[in-house]
Amino acid sequence: MSDNLHQLRCFGCGTRIAGSEARPDFRCAECGDLFEVDYPGWVQRRGPDRPNPGALKWLWRERRCSSESLDQSGVWRYRELLPILNNFGNAVTLREGNTPLYHLPRAAKALGIDQIFAKHQGMNPTASFKDTGMTAALSVARERGFEWVACASTGNTSAAMAAYAARAGLRSLVLIPEGKIAWGKLSQAMDYGAVTCQLKTDFDGCLQVLTEIVRQAPIYLLNSVNPYRLEGQKTPAFEIAEAFDWNVPDHILVPGGNLGNSSALGKGFRELHELGLVARLPRISVVQAAGANPLVRSFASSNGASIESLEAQTRATAIRIGNPASWRKAARVINDTHGWCIDVTEAEIAIAKAEIGAEGLGCEPASAVTLAGLKKLRAKSLIGTSDVVVLVLTGHTLKDADYTIDFHRGTLLSDEEAAGHEKEMDALRRNAVAVEAMPAAVLAAMKGAMA
Ligand code: F0G
Repeated sequence: MSDNLHQLRCFGCGTRIAGSEARPDFRCAECGDLFEVDYPGWVQRRGPDRPNPGALKWLWRERRCSSESLDQSGVWRYRELLPILNNFGNAVTLREGNTPLYHLPRAAKALGIDQIFAKHQGMNPTASFKDTGMTAALSVARERGFEWVACASTGNTSAAMAAYAARAGLRSLVLIPEGKIAWGKLSQAMDYGAVTCQLKTDFDGCLQVLTEIVRQAPIYLLNSVNPYRLEGQKTPAFEIAEAFDWNVPDHILVPGGNLGNSSALGKGFRELHELGLVARLPRISVVQAAGANPLVRSFASSNGASIESLEAQTRATAIRIGNPASWRKAARVINDTHGWCIDVTEAEIAIAKAEIGAEGLGCEPASAVTLAGLKKLRAKSLIGTSDVVVLVLTGHTLKDADYTIDFHRGTLLSDEEAAGHEKEMDALRRNAVAVEAMPAAVLAAMKGAMA
């Protein structure tokens, strides 16, 4: 595999450049838009670089039994569809991907939809979906000889970047909004050895500062403006298609923050379709928090043609983003797949998160927007009884334990936010109770819980 198998194509003006020519901020020199990784060889039908669908499906399954580290990675297992390295020996892997697809029987029953599944990306090595993108982009950083890598983050990107940098022996710099990220994520960046700076601004402000820094110093930017991140993050689409024996589900719902993930999943399915590995595309819908919903507003006003940034507010801190970098790419995915872009309230997120917990899975608040969004689409009859639905759960429940404890104690939401949802929330709450160290007292507590 060689570097010239891929090019970078500007999403805005179509300008093509070699991967090594990208500017440090990954913006197009002509129009300022973002790049996408493109594989020109695939369009030449009989070209030697065009992958053969049947052979690939067989090869990828065989690799699941291999003891090679690259084969054990759910990203590099599909390396024929991400030839972004000159030498795959440069790949830095923590055996990411290959995450479970769980049935959600309680949600299925409650919503009258037979098949609802959760693709749990929180089951990755650093407990979020970011690992799939980080293994790809950090491997490129290593191959290109960078000593420093950096990201602005609401927490998960920084945890993933710090871990992969440590594995590769690179130094990492993290910029996070002060006081607005979950402790679990901050502790990861510290533990993996990142230089962690808490800035008195929000995520969007952190990204702006970092963009200036990478223009001044040889630091490799690992936010999702880096198109190689999206190459790794497209592979869960391959896993989902493979899990359904290459028959794609009818609907995929994904949380929307900086909008890299929805863009990447859409690219993954689009490539499978173009290469003849699947016969159709799933509808991909993006769900945002109501206080951080610039793409929802964009669809309401211009069907995704233009966007206005806003000051974001939500307790789902992972998606507290008002100026999403990849909004054009995500808008294309929604339009091309005939998906929807919707938002959900703080109470709806909290309830959906508790319901996913009650399924024995759990997830972080930002992930729960998917179930909350599904309920909305179902209520409008936009999703049918026999449709197959996959919710992408992006982070593990332990990422933000404070949120969960506050919910079960009843201290999470203001009265205004909770209004109209009190009964639903009471039924889901399982607060820890203090009891005497005596069997009778514990048995009484059990009885109380059954009442
Ligand atoms: N879910 C979780 C758990 C996240 O951490 C993020 C983004 C998203 C959803 C949204 O994904 O940005 O691709 O639309 N977290 C970033 C971070 C911004 O810095 O960790 P997106």
